[in-house]
Formats: sequence, C-alpha cells, structure tokens
Amino acid sequence: MEVIVAKKSGFCFGVKRAVDKVYEQIGNKGPIYTYGPIIHNEEVVRDLAEKGVQVIENQDALSKVTTGTIIIRSHGVEKAIYDMIETQGLECVDATCPFVKRIHKIVSEESQNGREIVIVGNPGHPEVEGIMGWCNNQPTVIETTEEAEKFACAPDKHICIVSQTTFNYKKFEDIVEIFENKYYNVSVANTICNATEERQTEAREIAASVDAMIVIGGKHSSNTRKLFEICSKECEHTYYIQTLDDLYLELPKSVRLVGITAGASTPNNIIEEVQNYVRINF
Ligand code: F3S
Repeated sequence: MEVIVAKKSGFCFGVKRAVDKVYEQIGNKGPIYTYGPIIHNEEVVRDLAEKGVQVIENQDALSKVTTGTIIIRSHGVEKAIYDMIETQGLECVDATCPFVKRIHKIVSEESQNGREIVIVGNPGHPEVEGIMGWCNNQPTVIETTEEAEKFACAPDKHICIVSQTTFNYKKFEDIVEIFENKYYNVSVANTICNATEERQTEAREIAASVDAMIVIGGKHSSNTRKLFEICSKECEHTYYIQTLDDLYLELPKSVRLVGITAGASTPNNIIEEVQNYVRINF
C-alpha cells in the first residue's frame, strides 16, 4: 500500500522540547515530578510513570513536596508556582514553550506599566491560567465576541490584548476589531502559534488526495478530534485510532493510497508503527 504521512503530524516544537526535557531528567538524583501531565497522551504518561516520573496535579500537592525536581510543561504556569518551587528548595526544569514565555513577558511588562490586560482565550485552559498569573493587575479573559461587546473600562485606558497560542485566528481578529472600534489606546500582540493551523491545512490537503485517511491521537485530545473532523469532510474512509492496537480495520478493496496524520500529543514512534503496518499489511 502506498502511504503519505503528513510532515506536520504529531508533536509540535514546544511539546517535543518538553517531552525531551522530561526524558533527559530520568536517572538523575531525587524524585522527578511534572506539574500536570506533560502531554495528553496516556501511553507517554504511563511510560514516564514506569520510569519514576510522577504527576503533581495542583498547588496543594506541590506544597507537600519536600525534595526533587519539578518540570513545568509547555503550557507554562503562573509566577506563583515558580515562587513556591524556589521557597520549598526544589529544582525547577522549565519546559514552558518559548512562544508561551513570550506572552508571560508581554503581560508582565505591560501590566507593570499600568495597562489593562485582555487575554483572548479559554478561561479554564491551563495556558490561560498561567498567563493570568504573570499579570501585575487583574486581567480580563475574553472568549467570545459577546464578551468583548460587554467589556467596559475608562475610554482613555490603554489596553493590551494578547491571545492564547491555540486560539482561532478569525475569532481573535473579530474580538480585536470590537476593541479597536471602542477604544483609542489598544495595542495588540498576536501571540497565536501557527503549529495547529499548519497541521490542519496539511491534513486537509492530504485527506483530499487519498482513498483512506488515518488520524492518530488520544481520545480526549481535542486537536485530534478536530483533525478527524477536517479529514472526514474530505475523505469518506477516515479512521480515528489511538495506537496500532486499534487498527483492526478492513480497508475497502478499492483503496490504493492511504494518508496518515496525528494530533499534537502523538509520539513519532506510534506514527511510524502505524505507517509500517499499513505499508506491509494492506
Ligand atoms: Fe506547540 Fe508551543 Fe505552539 S507548545 S502549539 S509550539 S505555542
């Protein structure tokens, strides 16, 4: 079987960097913890657990740790977490994606200068919670155009708008426009990362040109579900699998060319396994 694998499938730069940093720590002295699961992939988290890497879920659990290394994942965390790690005398390995770090720097400086901070994003997302924790005043999180319409502050106030890295660009533009129409002093930092969009565009192109499409990723991964949705629109025979074990599929006889893509938390070895299997067995 002929197979096309999307070049931009699997880990983005920031996630790859974070996972690599965790593996680098294994074998070092003292317990190793990640603050939250390093990625949304059960296989990887299980493998790390077997190698002794534990997950700390919240500040309360962190406050009980007395020794070891805390690894901060690519989403980043609020400043208070770094302070706790330092006060408790723990080692810190910071795997925050540099694109997220840049947002922390912007909101920290801008809020220091007395600007009103608006974060365009999902208020419950850990990345947004982290960004909020770098503001020196109370930021506002806006997710919809309706919320943007309702926002109110003094007309001469200087507003600084940033975005969650994975936010939809079109929605971000619509929200920014509402602010620019209402206020004079608005500075906008487009902090959206294009890794997600590039992955989706490539998946759409491949799905449109193949007879069957396989999308690999965790069942709770929203970006994988989105890829599946995009590919299903282009290719009737689109399959969603977590690992090679799920690949009990009977491809229609007419299938000559298979495309493969994977969500942001799917490790390369799983993509390769699936690719080899399809090449050899069909
Ligand atoms: Fe990934 Fe960093 Fe972009 S974690 S999605 S490269 S902001």
